[in-house]
Amino acid sequence: MRGILASSIALYAASSALGALIPYSDLKARGYSTPLADCLQTAGLDPVVEGDAAYATDSSPFNLRLPWKPAALVYPRDSRGVSAAVKCGAKTGVKVNARSGGHSYAAFALGGEDGHLTVSLDDLRTLSLSGTKGTFGAGNHLGDVALFLWENGKRALAHGTCPYVGIGGHAGQGGFGLPSRAWGLLADQITSLEIVTADGAIRTASKTQNADLFWAATGAGASFGIITSFTAETHAALDSIAFAYNFDGYGAARASEGLQAWQAFANDPVNKLDTAVGLQIHVNPGSSPSGVVFSVSGVYYGVDEATVNSTFAPLLEKLGTPTSTSLQKQDWITSVLYLAGVNTTAQLNTTLAPDTHDTFYATSTFVPEAAPMNQEASDALFEYFYGPGANTSVAWFAIFDLYGGGDSVIARADKDTNAFDARDALYSIQYYGTIPASVSDADGIAFIQGMKTAVESNQPETQFKEYVNYIDSTYTAAESHKRYYPTHTDKLKTLKDKYDPKRVINFPQDF
Ligand SMILES: Cc1cc2nc3c(=O)[nH]c(=O)nc-3n(C[C@H](O)[C@H](O)[C@H](O)COP(=O)(O)OP(=O)(O)OC[C@H]3O[C@@H](n4cnc5c(N)ncnc54)[C@H](O)[C@@H]3O)c2cc1C
Ligand SMILES: *[C@@H]1O[C@H](CO)[C@@H](O)[C@H](O)[C@H]1NC(C)=O
Ligand SMILES: *[C@@H]1O[C@H](CO)[C@@H](O)[C@H](O)[C@H]1NC(C)=O
Ligand SMILES: *[C@@H]1O[C@H](CO)[C@@H](O)[C@H](O)[C@H]1NC(C)=O
Ligand SMILES: *[C@@H]1O[C@H](CO)[C@@H](O)[C@H](O)[C@H]1NC(C)=O
Repeated sequence: MRGILASSIALYAASSALGALIPYSDLKARGYSTPLADCLQTAGLDPVVEGDAAYATDSSPFNLRLPWKPAALVYPRDSRGVSAAVKCGAKTGVKVNARSGGHSYAAFALGGEDGHLTVSLDDLRTLSLSGTKGTFGAGNHLGDVALFLWENGKRALAHGTCPYVGIGGHAGQGGFGLPSRAWGLLADQITSLEIVTADGAIRTASKTQNADLFWAATGAGASFGIITSFTAETHAALDSIAFAYNFDGYGAARASEGLQAWQAFANDPVNKLDTAVGLQIHVNPGSSPSGVVFSVSGVYYGVDEATVNSTFAPLLEKLGTPTSTSLQKQDWITSVLYLAGVNTTAQLNTTLAPDTHDTFYATSTFVPEAAPMNQEASDALFEYFYGPGANTSVAWFAIFDLYGGGDSVIARADKDTNAFDARDALYSIQYYGTIPASVSDADGIAFIQGMKTAVESNQPETQFKEYVNYIDSTYTAAESHKRYYPTHTDKLKTLKDKYDPKRVINFPQDF
């Protein structure tokens, strides 16, 4: 969330209260009783229900645009508590959803509609390391995991940049970070997990145990139960050079040329781009003559500045002279802080300060290696960015993240490694907009969707996939499956029938 994201997100404190402020027994006496809450109480899980002073903050989503009202929230202390909660949902006919970091773009941890049971994993925060294998309770957030690994033998994983994103949703649905071309998605680095399935059973899943469940939970995790812990194979943390080449002087035409040069460079079959390069483009409104800033940035792990200079020289020949260049040698944790847009390691510890919120809509495109963006599509996209994008009160940004190219571990893995269904991607584009009160939801959403339409309408022969961790809140289940799991939908439906025939764990885009 370097710079751009940090500045576009409204920061204000939320309570970090965990669990009921008023015992359910008192609320029950005041008429708030439901069969679900009674069951949860009997199971020793003091539920938070409407009427509790904690309800408003406990049910407040990261995306304030989607304030679904859960029937109840619980904060189990262990897998047995999670199991009891799932059984209460099944018994009383209330659909159940897990919440790890609560950062779902569609607020699906709250159900994606009113009336679900949210099983919040905030109290499942154990962290341990055994040799090179780390095991993390599903209530941990990315910042906690990164900090713990660094502090315990300078270990590391590839994952996203925002410290408050939860490991549950992130690893369950993929989880991309700048080291991912070398180490894979976070889901790819998971070697086993513990999961409570819809029947309340506490199961271990790995490549050798409940392998079909493991396959499904590492890519479509939200649909197959409540993961209570993840075990991952960690790596030795690497020093790196963070680079950023900023182009303030570009207009739409130069920026479109810039993208064309960037994707050709990234996908060059002869001069293969080293997998140790994490590469992005950021486009966002900013102080430049055109009102929009285009920058090519990223992190190159394990090399010196001279290697960065020589690697990017051919690309810069095409891009022209940057308005400004930044090259910073950083150790691993400094890089984590830099990418997160924070200053101190304490800011990675999510138990020490409350999360932020935003009011936004986002959606995405995966551009395939086999069908890079054509000239018409990139011209239209950048005309949109530099035209309507330079004159809107929606605070938007677009980030292009390189997944493939060269010997990328994400792209070269078997396409059926796990449920994640976009191994053919060259890069993702995330289109994100904070919608201010002065703009209607419909107008804000339409403005952001205009970006994706600019690409798709000019390249109709390509069936673009999308990234499920940037889940689009406007999709029907059918549209969602087509975009996120085009080749895995049938298998996922079959596995859903096997592990959750009554659809106890369920949200509007589920199988
Ligand atoms: C500021 C910000 C920055 C981001 N940066 C990146 C990035 O760099 N790279 C990237 O890949 N993505 C990024 N994302 C997207 C992020 O990966 C997803 O939003 C992710 O799903 C959030 O996980 P969560 O646990 O915080 O969310 P939640 O809302 O808690 O969960 C998301 C979904 O997963 C389910 N779920 C949660 N926990 C579990 C569990 N333990 N078991 C089963 N299902 C579970 C929920 O029910 C829900 O459907 C970012 C998001 C934000 C808001
Ligand atoms: C975060 O802070 C808490 C409270 O000080 C501490 O117990 C915990 O160990 C810290 N986590 C990490 C990963 O350092
Ligand atoms: C790398 O390039 C920058 C200019 O972009 C220059 O300032 C720096 O000295 C170069 N570093 C090396 C080691 O060549
Ligand atoms: C980091 O430090 C800078 C300089 O002191 C400050 O402007 C900025 O607000 C800090 N950022 C965070 C997230 O604390
Ligand atoms: C910018 O937007 C405003 C309000 O939508 C509109 O009136 C104006 O003509 C636009 N300006 C340009 C240069 O497009």
